[in-house]
Amino acid sequence: MDYRTYIAARIRIEGVSAEEIANAVAVPPDTTLGDYALPCFKFARILKKSPAVIAEELAAVYPADEVIESASAVGGYLNFRVNKAGLANEVLTAVESAGSDYGSSDMGRGKTVCIDYSSINIAKPFHIGHLSTTVLGGSLYRIFKFLGYRTVGINHLGDYGTQFGKLISAYKRWGNRELVEKGGIRALNELYVRFHREAEADPALDDEARAYFKKIEEGDAECLALFDWFKALTLKDVQKIYDLLGITFDSYAGESFYQDKMAPVVEELREKGLLVESRGAQIVDLEAYGMPPCIILKSDGTSLYATRDMAAAIYRKKTYDFDKCLYVVAYQQNLHFKQFFKVLELMGKEWAKDLVHVAYGMVSLEDGAMSTRKGNVVFLEDVIARCIEKASAILKEKNPGLADSDRVATTVGVGAVVFGALYNSKIKDITFSYEKALNFDGETSVYVQYTCARAASVLQKAKESGIAYMGTEIPAPETAEAELLKALSALPETVLAAARDYEPSYLARYAVDTAQKFNKFYIDCKIMGAETEEKRAFRLRLTAATLTVLTNALTLLGIGVPEKM
Ligand code: ARG
Repeated sequence: MDYRTYIAARIRIEGVSAEEIANAVAVPPDTTLGDYALPCFKFARILKKSPAVIAEELAAVYPADEVIESASAVGGYLNFRVNKAGLANEVLTAVESAGSDYGSSDMGRGKTVCIDYSSINIAKPFHIGHLSTTVLGGSLYRIFKFLGYRTVGINHLGDYGTQFGKLISAYKRWGNRELVEKGGIRALNELYVRFHREAEADPALDDEARAYFKKIEEGDAECLALFDWFKALTLKDVQKIYDLLGITFDSYAGESFYQDKMAPVVEELREKGLLVESRGAQIVDLEAYGMPPCIILKSDGTSLYATRDMAAAIYRKKTYDFDKCLYVVAYQQNLHFKQFFKVLELMGKEWAKDLVHVAYGMVSLEDGAMSTRKGNVVFLEDVIARCIEKASAILKEKNPGLADSDRVATTVGVGAVVFGALYNSKIKDITFSYEKALNFDGETSVYVQYTCARAASVLQKAKESGIAYMGTEIPAPETAEAELLKALSALPETVLAAARDYEPSYLARYAVDTAQKFNKFYIDCKIMGAETEEKRAFRLRLTAATLTVLTNALTLLGIGVPEKM
């Protein structure tokens, strides 16, 4: 039941659509006056009446029924009271019948969403800077799938550029097979860092690196083999992290994949008269749009990041015929995306409007940021390992007899890292704190996971005592029960909003809020010791429904739910 739509369908305001009314209906901060409220202030101008008079008049004609029990005017607000028994019946039936699909929809049927996320750089460490894109993209992937879309997850690998020439040069000078085989990305990164240090003193190294990169481009067998090996090593290393985070991709077509697909794009730009020469480089002038020019070819004829992204967008449209193509990339690249989206639009690609840069803020650790070149970089692998370790220590203290404690600690530790990156609105810069992320009483994944375990344990007790509770008569809900029911009813709209705004944080906040409502209910209402059998059965159904809803929300975020904690 979508109460906002339900209410809006029963209200007429001259010159205002039902949709606008539905959007204006809000949940008041203090629910003692009503479960929903329509503020009438913004209709005052159109209707030429005071908000208080409008609310009075609307209240007088509102048709109360078994869904919305009453409408009353207070100040400029029209307050609605939901029929709680009806709500209980409706929500419980919906959750129980849909189960792990509760909150899903088929609105995306026949539509395709491409999601470019994680998009790591070969031979560079998978550092904390790639955390957000990976988990945000992974969550959006799940959310859109849940809404019935065909989703294409793309890891647009950074596997092209002079840095690979540098790496080959460094490898040949100071590396060897055994060292790199053993050390993986870390060894490659050390070589890269050393190259930069030594090149500062000896600029000839840079020329050597350029020459090696040219060899890769020309298909030199030895250089290509090294490059492919570096790539395989990197992917093998990061796979461990993807497995922990439950992240998958449908395509690993990275920048080098577009090497032979850029020439036609450059040609098309030339034909359409968009290309101009500027100091030897080929550019598209974007001054009319308040942006610096988009450089397509450097003066030595080599392509750029933007050139490859244009080829990639065209390729994706042709291959997947997407309805939307999302790029989950840090806001530092805002200009890059604005520029090449604009160039595609100028080329007459009407689908350029379907390209979306899903920008997010920076994640840093309490002890400072990182730089790949200098080498003081925080590996995501280390952050996750430390979280698991801490989770393990906390669990040992809280529940020494916990079965399967290593697996639970992994689920809790990984969840804390993921949740830490998804809890805030994505555009915000955040500082990750181990203490905060693993606080059992905070706004954390472990708090939600613990709530799930608590619900599961109540249900287990009921099962052991042979108590059947499905399909029973529903008594009039008490306050804490009603508040919990309203929260449970809001999952479907929260999933929709998260997809609409590309904000998994809505689901993270929703999960915490719902867990809080459950815990309030758990304290206020005795479940197994309820006054009547009818109440006990109803509370058990509520508990089961809460477990389903929280599990669905966490799953969409990419976070696991341990049975016991
Ligand atoms: N590899 C790039 C980086 O780490 C991100 C690529 C994002 N995707 C894209 N199509 N440009 O900064």
